[in-house]
Amino acid sequence: MSSSSSLLLLLFLLSLSGVKLISGFKICAFNVQSFGDSKSRNTEVMHTLIRIVSRCDVCLLQEVRDTKQKAIPLLITELNRYDSQNQYDYVASERLGRTPSYQEQYVFVFRIGSVTVTDQYQYSDMLPGDEDAFSREPFIIRLHTPKTAIRNFVLVPQHTTPTNATKEIDALYDVFLDVKKKWKTEMVMFLGDFNADCGYVAKKNWQHVRLYSNQAFLWLIGHTEDTTVRQTTTCAYDRIVVHGEAFEKAIVPQSAQPFNFAKEYGLTEEQALDVSDHYPVEVELKAGSEHLGGHTLLILLMAFFIST
Ligand SMILES: *[C@@H]1O[C@H](CO)[C@@H](O)[C@H](O)[C@H]1NC(C)=O
Repeated sequence: MSSSSSLLLLLFLLSLSGVKLISGFKICAFNVQSFGDSKSRNTEVMHTLIRIVSRCDVCLLQEVRDTKQKAIPLLITELNRYDSQNQYDYVASERLGRTPSYQEQYVFVFRIGSVTVTDQYQYSDMLPGDEDAFSREPFIIRLHTPKTAIRNFVLVPQHTTPTNATKEIDALYDVFLDVKKKWKTEMVMFLGDFNADCGYVAKKNWQHVRLYSNQAFLWLIGHTEDTTVRQTTTCAYDRIVVHGEAFEKAIVPQSAQPFNFAKEYGLTEEQALDVSDHYPVEVELKAGSEHLGGHTLLILLMAFFIST
């Protein structure tokens, strides 16, 4: 058999087996800039949002200001209609904020079957050291996923208040210590709009941010990235940070990035800004060894080499 026909055979077998060659597990965080009633009525905006969220196994939405509590259920309904491969569900935090007049929620949208939320916890003003560190206290979840190599880990969301960004990012370190004690795990990922750039965190202050200065934390979205839609701004506001070597090893190298949905979907800056002034950030985790990928691929590769 010629090598080109062997290759064709391999591709044919792969397609038969339904193996997706790229079958990582995608985690996303998106500041949807005041997502509520009015955005959910805009069909263009909703379509783009659904395309974005349906790329992710789990997606943290921030700045959800859904006072009528209809926008998120609508998003889920439309997602389930749009994506024929997957069904989605969500868990939401309390309404959070320093004043009753301005409140936001963290919402985790996830694929049923791919993700199980096994624990959830809403922080209130309770962290030792700084009882009032956050404007929007983390709503943490522990999830289980058979799809990844690490299987169980914790997500800590944070949307900081810009003027307090340095202090709030630093306080995430206290959250880490608390999660470690509470849930007996160090597999923790921090994600969200940290406002971690462009005047909100001064260069000289990074050394005082424990989540940054402590070498055990890996910042997957670097200082030079741009997570803002506007051409006139280049700021790495939105970040993903993981703790520990085990978590680091579970990350698909180079997969962490802002997702430029304007470019990807051919939107003008104005159309993109109707959705949000932020890009989502995302990262992929490696597939678990017991997942389809591993064994099936090995057998197919053997078949390939035997046939050549
Ligand atoms: C910044 O944090 C302090 C508490 O540490 C709080 O009193 C203040 O209201 C915060 N500022 C804003 C704008 O939220």
